[in-house]
Amino acid sequence: MSALPPSPPRVVGTAWDAVLLLATIFVAGHAPLYVVLSDPPLGVLALDAVATLLFVADLAARFTRPVRVDGRPIADRRVIARHYLRGWFAVDLLAAVPFGLLSMLPGLATGGGRQLLALLGLTRALRLARLAHLQMTWRTQTVLHPALYRLGFFVFWAAMVAHWIACGWIALGGAERSHTDLAVYLRALYWTITTLASVGYGDITPVTSGQVVYAMVVMVLGLGMFGFVLGNVANLLANADSLRTQHLARVERASLFLRGHGVPRELRERVHDYYDYLWESRMDADDQVLDDLPTPLRTEIALLLARPILDGVPFLRGASEPFLRAVVRHLKPAVFTPGELVLRRGDVGHRMYFIRRGEVEVLAADDATRVATLGDGDYFGEMALLTREPRSASIRALDYCDFYTLDREHFAEVLANFPEFAAEVRRTAAARAAGATAAATAPAHPVEA
Ligand code: CMP
Repeated sequence: MSALPPSPPRVVGTAWDAVLLLATIFVAGHAPLYVVLSDPPLGVLALDAVATLLFVADLAARFTRPVRVDGRPIADRRVIARHYLRGWFAVDLLAAVPFGLLSMLPGLATGGGRQLLALLGLTRALRLARLAHLQMTWRTQTVLHPALYRLGFFVFWAAMVAHWIACGWIALGGAERSHTDLAVYLRALYWTITTLASVGYGDITPVTSGQVVYAMVVMVLGLGMFGFVLGNVANLLANADSLRTQHLARVERASLFLRGHGVPRELRERVHDYYDYLWESRMDADDQVLDDLPTPLRTEIALLLARPILDGVPFLRGASEPFLRAVVRHLKPAVFTPGELVLRRGDVGHRMYFIRRGEVEVLAADDATRVATLGDGDYFGEMALLTREPRSASIRALDYCDFYTLDREHFAEVLANFPEFAAEVRRTAAARAAGATAAATAPAHPVEA
């Protein structure tokens, strides 16, 4: 296997990215305020300095940090640097220039210098584009409902847009200047929200032509935002818990089918029990999910899921990796409800079973006497596959049972390729056959209630 280039530890990457995101949000919020209000308090300036330092550190780190290009991890520093220079570098560089702090320098604080630097500082907010980019990346990784995820981000972007519009309103002279900075900002924000939400009380109205045009644009924007929210809420309500809806549709279809064919109530209830268990144990999606994946990934996940079984069966615990991979690839999940016959004596055997969870009883020839009880990690159904004779006994589930099954064809393949497995299975089958012969001559024990 070719060695993949090292990628940064995910947790560290995530924590660093989260800190940078917070810094970006702070700078994007602070930059327009710096243009329209007087000098911010010292604490805000200190935060600005910290954010700037973080951006500079990030800028330097990006030249060496492994990246993914077209989905492939890249570790070659020259390629990383070239990729970065062509991509986010300009945005990151602008964000790393402390325009606001520079304007405090004695020579620049006077005349139009402060205002020009404050305006240039607005470009730092371009770093928000990184958040928009991450929003798209996270979309496939989040466990949130897609509509909820979109709404969450919508709230964030709506707040950011409202903030910038409020600052624009102050810049256009829409908010009275006679108050403190906070009061000016709050009044501008109040105007923004009432206009965006199409409430428009009319207590603050546009006066100059610039303000009138601005107000119209904000109203149209508000309409668009309103439509977006309505659409998403409707989508959220319609698709809430789509998996459950699918499951219920499946149960309903089965119910209709069984009723239509006059299946007795008791049997129908067992079908319902089966579906309930399938849903509650989250086994429902197993098959389709794994079928979707490419073989190596499927094997990897199957190996992980089957680990308790593999560890539970003594001779499988020490089995070699190739053997385990060969077996798990072909294991199929199966579920049985209490009282159900898993195997019927005399039937043709098509597969063997590994018990993932649950307990079964092996029944004697009278189908009532218990010969043995098998539990987690045990297996059965191997004899018919080995001898090509009918099933030697009936097996009944004692509680809800999750099995992995291995069909005849793959059983034979594994048997042929892994002699130790073959020997072990044959040994067990022989011991069981001998046990059954002994049991046939011993006094029968009635099945417990
Ligand atoms: P098979 O004959 O294919 O189907 C019935 C299965 O019951 C059989 O394979 C064995 O796996 C299992 N079995 C039969 N006899 C015993 C026993 N005495 N103890 C445990 N399991 C048994």
